[in-house]
Amino acid sequence: MKMELVLGIETSCDETAAAVLKNGNELLSNVVASQDDIHTKFGGIVPELACRRHIECILPVIEKALTDANVKLKELDGISVTKGPGLIGSILIGFSAAKSIAFAMNKPFIGINHIEGHLNAAFLEKIKPPYPHIALIASGGHTSLFKVMNFGEYQLLGRTRDDAAGEAFDKVAKMLGYPQPGGPSIEKSSMKGNPSAINFPRGMLKDDSLDFSFSGLKTAVMNYLRKLENDKSEDKADIAASFQQSVIDTLVFKTIRALDECKISSLVVAGGVAANEPLRKVFKKESINKDFKLFIPSINFCTDNAAMIAYAGFKRLSRGEKDSLDLNAFATGFMELA
Ligand code: KG4
Ligand code: ZN
Repeated sequence: MKMELVLGIETSCDETAAAVLKNGNELLSNVVASQDDIHTKFGGIVPELACRRHIECILPVIEKALTDANVKLKELDGISVTKGPGLIGSILIGFSAAKSIAFAMNKPFIGINHIEGHLNAAFLEKIKPPYPHIALIASGGHTSLFKVMNFGEYQLLGRTRDDAAGEAFDKVAKMLGYPQPGGPSIEKSSMKGNPSAINFPRGMLKDDSLDFSFSGLKTAVMNYLRKLENDKSEDKADIAASFQQSVIDTLVFKTIRALDECKISSLVVAGGVAANEPLRKVFKKESINKDFKLFIPSINFCTDNAAMIAYAGFKRLSRGEKDSLDLNAFATGFMELA
């Protein structure tokens, strides 16, 4: 199927995003409207508020994506949208907008699994990862390792048994009184701290599996803060840096184990947590020490965006796949990459 111009739409969490991708490799526009301002005072995302903001933003964001790309609705060849997993109320806003455009303009429509979007974000860069490769996806909702044989062929190797890595960043930031999202706040604070000041636990390292666990670490930080109580002398930056180091060590350790076990020498790291500069640095260093090829997308392709949804949609639509307009969205179910 001729598939030149694809509109991608993403609203699975607290970003309203739209992008226009040409021929699967030329990003004509990439618009992301963040909602950080409305959620930060609640110390986390409030689903009902997220929905309402998506409703306000979805049409202006799509219009801006089309204007920036200098593309008219009728010129589009396909519409690609996140169908899940995520906050169902949020997903439904982008999903309904995508379906409406597809119906009104009589264009092919496809629903994309959000994780498949993250798994393919590295393909938006000039230098593309080869197949097979290992992919670590670490975000606010997921922390999983995949063996990727080809586009659309993903084998789940391990995943978090409790909190996602980004969720741990967000919860620890809340404990420290830092603004949301927690990842960037902790990263900023940690620049002034000592990562070896406190020896927080490294979850599941003794376990033979490729699964992760971050809830023990989160509890350890909470207990540490409780013990301090009124002792204001303790430097929050040391706590942030030590917590961050524990997450990095765990992610890097398990990911390198996956590369070794699968005898694969290419690695993709993506998802919001892959925006973390110290994490990126450790992976870069390890890629030199251990001689594997590393592909980490630029920061705006690590955090939620519609370009990655447009890319995955382009790949599927190009090979003739499309969904009917009675497709349902879903909140959970990342494992099967439905
Ligand atoms: O991929 P993403 O934008 O949305 C989900 O699919 O969840 O990831 C958001 C998560 C949040 O938990 C946020 O705190 C974390 O990614 N994050 C970071 C950084 N930037 C965003 N974590 C660590 N360091 C960062 N610089
Ligand atoms: Zn995401």
